[in-house]
Amino acid sequence: MSKAEIRFDGQVYEMPVFEGTENEKAIEIKTLRSVSGLVTLDPGYKNTGATTSAITFLDGEKGILRYRGYPIEQLAEKSTFLEVAYLLIYGDLPSKQKYEEFTQNIREHTLVHEDFKTILDGFPSAAHPMGVLSSMVTALTAFYPEALDPNRSWESVDMGIIRMMAKLPTFAAWAHKNAKGHPVIYPDNRLDYCSNFLKMMFALPSEDYEADPVVSAALEKLLILHADHEQNCSTSTVRIVGSSQASLASSISAGISALWGPLHGGANQAVIEMLEAIKNDGGDTKKYLNKAKDKDDTFRLMGFGHRVYKNFDPRAKIIKKAADSVLLKLGVNDPILEIAKGLEEAALEDPYFVEKKLYPNVDFYSGIIYRALGIPTNMFTVMFALGRLPGWIAQWKEMRENNEPIGRPRQIYTGANERDYVDVNAR
Ligand code: CMC
Repeated sequence: MSKAEIRFDGQVYEMPVFEGTENEKAIEIKTLRSVSGLVTLDPGYKNTGATTSAITFLDGEKGILRYRGYPIEQLAEKSTFLEVAYLLIYGDLPSKQKYEEFTQNIREHTLVHEDFKTILDGFPSAAHPMGVLSSMVTALTAFYPEALDPNRSWESVDMGIIRMMAKLPTFAAWAHKNAKGHPVIYPDNRLDYCSNFLKMMFALPSEDYEADPVVSAALEKLLILHADHEQNCSTSTVRIVGSSQASLASSISAGISALWGPLHGGANQAVIEMLEAIKNDGGDTKKYLNKAKDKDDTFRLMGFGHRVYKNFDPRAKIIKKAADSVLLKLGVNDPILEIAKGLEEAALEDPYFVEKKLYPNVDFYSGIIYRALGIPTNMFTVMFALGRLPGWIAQWKEMRENNEPIGRPRQIYTGANERDYVDVNAR
């Protein structure tokens, strides 16, 4: 094993260099503090590997993304979302028999306890569906208290995984129905995962509903593209919450909350809101590019830039192509698409974006497809959560299987030095 040297205060400390299967190298500093008194400081963990993981590989410079070794391009084109979910969670593509068992098991657990309707009724219709979703997932702990202890047995953990995969679409669709003030639609277990979700989202109790296969297929692809993305903000949240040995449901609920923010999964909603604002403001993309470049303006070009991808986001490439094809197949003519294309072209030629390596990310075009599929804007991040679920589960499971220690970063204190308490009347 190669070693790196850290020199400080006349001392040399040797640290082992860990190498991954794709030749990525990391200085292992587990013993640094005990031998030298030093810790590392890396706000936002921009250069810190929090774990080793065998789930997802991505190379931000080359624009490579693979789940368990399989290129995202192949999976997006050829597989189903549940096949990808199985791959991420259990490590390999399922045999035909295993795939049937897995999908059947999920179908059988899509229904949620009737009391969830009472919980749902407690939310005002203006509630953002992400808040509703995360609350419903936390509430699962009340209905399945045996799943609170992740050490109970692997059978019980597995059951929790199936329930989570099966019930999240039901919660998501019900959160939408709550926002509309409509009665909920129960799951239909004759349908596949995506068609069942679309039925719960869009059917009315009085009508026969059949999902458009174009819509179902597009949704399947989007969910696959979002299924995992190694140690991003929400996934790290899931792992760190789970590292305290909290239940799968509480860890996933925390992940949903982390995903909500506009710099992460909330970007897909923010992109559409930005494109609409540009359109309503006369379509002047240059004006918004300038705002994004202005240091005194907090405006950012939503859907641009990525912590890891510094060349292109391979998911964005696939999505852009899919957006064109879905809009064409559904006969949708969305003026927002023209604004998006204009903005992308202008940004890709602008020295600010070129120098900072800011390219469209997965969320730049996903909102446009979701809109074409009839999904309301406040549900976009919920769609991301549905897609990311198997990734969160796989990462949580891996963390548990590897018996990782509780996540607990260090800090460098920069506050006041010791001082004496002064009585309130004397201040
Ligand atoms: N528009 C304008 N300037 C930007 C943007 C942007 N979208 N993104 C980054 N920059 C600038 C930023 O101001 C900074 O400039 P400087 O070096 O002069 O201070 C530089 O580029 C580096 O930015 P950073 O914030 O330090 O980079 P980061 O790695 O911490 O942030 C990011 C990554 C995705 C949060 C950021 O690019 C961003 O806010 N993008 C817009 C939100 C977005 O689309 N998020 C979705 C990400 S993909 C979905 C997911 O997986 O979450």
